[in-house]
Amino acid sequence: MSFSEHWLALRQHADSSARADALAQAAADWLQRHGTPDRTLYMDLGSGSGANWLHLAPLLSAHRQWLLVDNDAALLASAQARCSAGTSVRTQRSDLASQLSTLPWDQVALVSASALLDLVSQTWLEQLAALAAAANVPLLCALSYDGRLVLQQSDVDDEWLRSAVNAHQRGNKGFGPALGPDATQVAAELLRDQHYWVGTHDSDWQLNAADARDAALLRPLIEGWAEAAAEQFPAEAQRASHWAARRLACVARGELQVTVGHKDLLALPAPR
Ligand SMILES: C[S@@+](CC[C@H](N)C(=O)[O-])C[C@H]1O[C@@H](n2cnc3c(N)ncnc32)[C@H](O)[C@@H]1O
Repeated sequence: MSFSEHWLALRQHADSSARADALAQAAADWLQRHGTPDRTLYMDLGSGSGANWLHLAPLLSAHRQWLLVDNDAALLASAQARCSAGTSVRTQRSDLASQLSTLPWDQVALVSASALLDLVSQTWLEQLAALAAAANVPLLCALSYDGRLVLQQSDVDDEWLRSAVNAHQRGNKGFGPALGPDATQVAAELLRDQHYWVGTHDSDWQLNAADARDAALLRPLIEGWAEAAAEQFPAEAQRASHWAARRLACVARGELQVTVGHKDLLALPAPR
């Protein structure tokens, strides 16, 4: 599945405001106490154009190199272009669906990801949890969609649209059947099975059409949700496009507020 640089840039403001920084801080504290010098890398999976690295780098010790991993060469080039001179970042083009085990696990101090877990399957998460546990490495996974979608003032088809979108989220995004809204809960269970301490925190987008940046994100979001609903239920394509037209009109009037539920997850290895 591909993501445009424009879309990732549009969501970055909402992502930054939503993130549960208490979990990122807890990861930084854990690394201060338990990090070892032979673990030289922070590894960001599905890095795209580098939003997660940009957010986390100031919170974590600068003594390690970042490895940004994605299968999209253009997004990785864009991430590399955002690095200031002297920043310790390198990129690696890999297909995470098939090459997860080939990454340099023995050098990794922290695995991070943002907006990735909801795309992956249970089988893939089982592999991630097993590899991370074998390497005794913490994971910080931000901004996984959790199925909550609340629009104010309500429209007669909001609930239909939400359930259609959530069904669409469970389609194959390149990793097998996606966990979509269940991703954080399943990841937490799998990591606890691997003896991790796991904490989760809501990291919801709170979007208000009266704000120009939020309105710019809401327009493609609404169009994308309607497309997903129509793809899921082709016989109801018109219902989806009518819903989108009503909701886009609300955005144009600056009158729509939307909560998009996300979760952040931190998993810390048990002391050895
Ligand atoms: C929703 S975007 C999130 C990007 C970035 N983490 C952020 O928060 O802006 C998902 C990212 O996963 C990457 N991705 C999707 N499938 C992948 C795969 N099979 N292998 C590697 N990267 C993949 C996409 O290229 C994209 O950059």
